Amino acid sequence: MKITVVGAGAVGASCAEYIAIKDFASEVVLVDIKEGYAEGKAMDLMQTASLNGFDTKITGTTGDYSKTAGSHLAIITSGIPRKPGMTREELIGINAGIVKTVAQSILAHSPEVIIMVVSNPMDTMTYLVHKATGLPKHRIIGMGGALDSARFKYRLAEAVGAPISDIDGMVIGGHSDTGMVPLSRLATRNSVPVSNFVSEERLGQVVEDTKVGGATLTKLLGTSAWYAPGAAVSAMAQAIVCDQKKMFPCSTLLEGEYGLSDICIGVPVILGVNGIEEIVTIPLNDQEKAKLAESAEGVRKTNSLLDVS
Ligand code: 2OP
Repeated sequence: MKITVVGAGAVGASCAEYIAIKDFASEVVLVDIKEGYAEGKAMDLMQTASLNGFDTKITGTTGDYSKTAGSHLAIITSGIPRKPGMTREELIGINAGIVKTVAQSILAHSPEVIIMVVSNPMDTMTYLVHKATGLPKHRIIGMGGALDSARFKYRLAEAVGAPISDIDGMVIGGHSDTGMVPLSRLATRNSVPVSNFVSEERLGQVVEDTKVGGATLTKLLGTSAWYAPGAAVSAMAQAIVCDQKKMFPCSTLLEGEYGLSDICIGVPVILGVNGIEEIVTIPLNDQEKAKLAESAEGVRKTNSLLDVS
């Protein structure tokens, strides 16, 4: 299957690289507005094919969306990234216009496409894609929770002193420093609650470190991270392209689930060849429900800055 990645910056290129290395797509088309940039990244990546052992064909184009025709999945990473000290919400002014135009350009050539939104502020950009395209909700997916959960597992493994493969955990809510809801009560080390291994105080620190996971990296790198975002996107893309029916927390349009409506926010979903095939409702306790409701308020506040007329 063919996958389009719009934006050949660090995140977009990392998505293309991880997708190619896993060798599950027939073709990846990289699109960028900077003359020759996507073509250059695509050529560089293709020259890793014989070394890394993949057959995925990677091509690049400077804004020619006709090259993306027939894509099963399109991943939007375009827009400006965070600089140190910035919140994801501050990017809305520039990124909203870009994301809307990109989504419409993709659809013009791939009417059946599934769109995955990575650009920030991600939950609001996902909502914008709904409003701008009117696509059925299962075909619009926001990538945030998979990344935040990977960061949560990294911090949990560090706190517990266990290998990451022993750890399971999930982050729901908005993809923002204040909106993430790491579900530490449900996190486990090989089926045993992590609270068996770490103090409540240490678990609280894990939660706080997870919520500012992106900001911590932005401060260290001078721009936002790309390896973990690329890996999260490729895992979700593989679940879709290979119809794996895997569960990830993703930003999806809610219509009453979790008591929320007319909002895109991270909750667990099943990803398969049709995109979001099911929204999974998990029993949250009162505290977790309150945190999710508070997170939704934050996302709505950012959504209110959109011009969706
Ligand atoms: C992050 O958290 C890019 O929003 C993304 O790193």
